Amino acid sequence: MTKAHRAGDAPIAVEVEKDKSYYWCTCGKSSKQPFCDGTHKGSEFTPLAYKAEETKIKNYIKKDSLHSYISSPNGFWYRYIVKNDSDTVFPVKGDIVQVSYDLLDLNDQIIYSKETNGVKEYVVDKEDFIPGLQAGIKLMKEGESMKFIIPSFNAFGVLGDEKKIGMNTSIISLSLIHI
Ligand code: FES
Repeated sequence: MTKAHRAGDAPIAVEVEKDKSYYWCTCGKSSKQPFCDGTHKGSEFTPLAYKAEETKIKNYIKKDSLHSYISSPNGFWYRYIVKNDSDTVFPVKGDIVQVSYDLLDLNDQIIYSKETNGVKEYVVDKEDFIPGLQAGIKLMKEGESMKFIIPSFNAFGVLGDEKKIGMNTSIISLSLIHI
């Protein structure tokens, strides 16, 4: 692994606001220390997400008390909308799957609808997609529909998509899969 650049020798005190998301620079190259400014792009470093974004997601899950969400070790949460108990096949590397998905914010407002996104044909683990969904798709069986809640570090990152998805934005994806 490449060594991180040494950003300084003294601790930097910062004030953080409740429920606001922060990303610490781990590569040492940001000009906005201790925060990431996106300079790490293209390197093997990624910023470290500060808990505040997770708190927001946990509050969202708490409010949706009618459903139970599963916490994935891959850094997102999900629940079933449609479950397929009769199938046992999960997508594996190299499979071509078709995914249709809406992207929403944590206020359940649609950012990009499935009509806008179109049906995405995705070769599992062989092309780039939203990282949280790349992992999520491998949990889905034919015809299943799931709701994923994905923190920004596993979605569009610190910078967002520089269009409708802002900086440090967690997203919700409602996805349906055909294998
Ligand atoms: S600039 Fe250092 S982790 Fe993003």
